[in-house]
Amino acid sequence: MDLKGKNFLKMLDFSAEEINYLIDLSLQLKAEKKQGKSQKDYMSGKNIALIFEKTSTRTRCSFEVAAYDMGANVTYLDPSGSQIGKKESIADTARVLGRMYDGIEYRGFEQDKVEALAKYAGVPVWNGLTNESHPTQMIADMMTIKEHFGKLSGIKFVYMGDARYNMGNSLMVTCAKLGMDFVACTSEKYFPESWLVEKCQDIAKQSGGSVTLTDDVAAGCKDADVIYTDVWVSMGEPDAVWEERIKELSPYQVNAKAFSYAKPGAKFMHCLPAFHDLNTTIGVQIHEKFGIDCMEVTDEIFESERSIVFDEAENRMHSIKAVMYATLGNVR
Ligand code: CP
Ligand code: NVA
Repeated sequence: MDLKGKNFLKMLDFSAEEINYLIDLSLQLKAEKKQGKSQKDYMSGKNIALIFEKTSTRTRCSFEVAAYDMGANVTYLDPSGSQIGKKESIADTARVLGRMYDGIEYRGFEQDKVEALAKYAGVPVWNGLTNESHPTQMIADMMTIKEHFGKLSGIKFVYMGDARYNMGNSLMVTCAKLGMDFVACTSEKYFPESWLVEKCQDIAKQSGGSVTLTDDVAAGCKDADVIYTDVWVSMGEPDAVWEERIKELSPYQVNAKAFSYAKPGAKFMHCLPAFHDLNTTIGVQIHEKFGIDCMEVTDEIFESERSIVFDEAENRMHSIKAVMYATLGNVR
């Protein structure tokens, strides 16, 4: 499998074989790290730019630790710390950074921006989240499912909440490619766009998987292996939408009732950060305004044995290591 020089922009660009290769490489790199094997020569001498136009904990730390472990150097550009978009176009930024860096991570708003960056940079560009997709999260999520279930094909994967945004889109594409049974279980307004649903249904026909949309929680969660959710209001969306999201998505909260329809060993997943208690500023503000203690997932489920969210978070680092190594690493 040769992914050298490739960009990592969205899951639609990759075949099932390539995705499986990245998942297995992530597992191998994780095992090496646990064994204490040095990975310093995998990317020694490489310089990486990390551009974040939105905030991050996991993605930024994963890129930094992965780079340090593999001997690469990083520069972090925060949402206010560069000229990007304000005084300099994406195309010009790409041509400047491409002269200095061997690889560029970009987290921002429209997918078009990361695509433009990749077009002009001349070095691999990795999408660290856009409004439309979150591909590095996909490798971590699938890696985590493989660790817990020993397989991906045939897994019933239910996504609840806002399925129209980066997480819902990317999970639907990835599950379809990998022969999984993907269900978007939410109110119709929050279904992914129909062109993407149709494309994924075609992909699933080839892979032996399926893509289903339903607004019925009992039918959607029936015999689920994994129930997944994400925040109801994503980064960059206006605060004004909280009220309607709470009203419209509360029936699709991940709670004990939803899990009562799932398989006995079903797992809970979430890309994080999550609103499951009142230990966040926004959680408290929402509580004061709307009187609720949690949003997309109850604290009971989040803290339960079913929850594998911190395995998932750890795996962001191992899988980002795999993506960088596969596209830019030194030949071993
Ligand atoms: N899951 C995820 O991308 O987390 P961060 O926003 O903290 O990077
Ligand atoms: N949908 C969320 C994902 C965060 C990792 C957002 O875009 O804010």
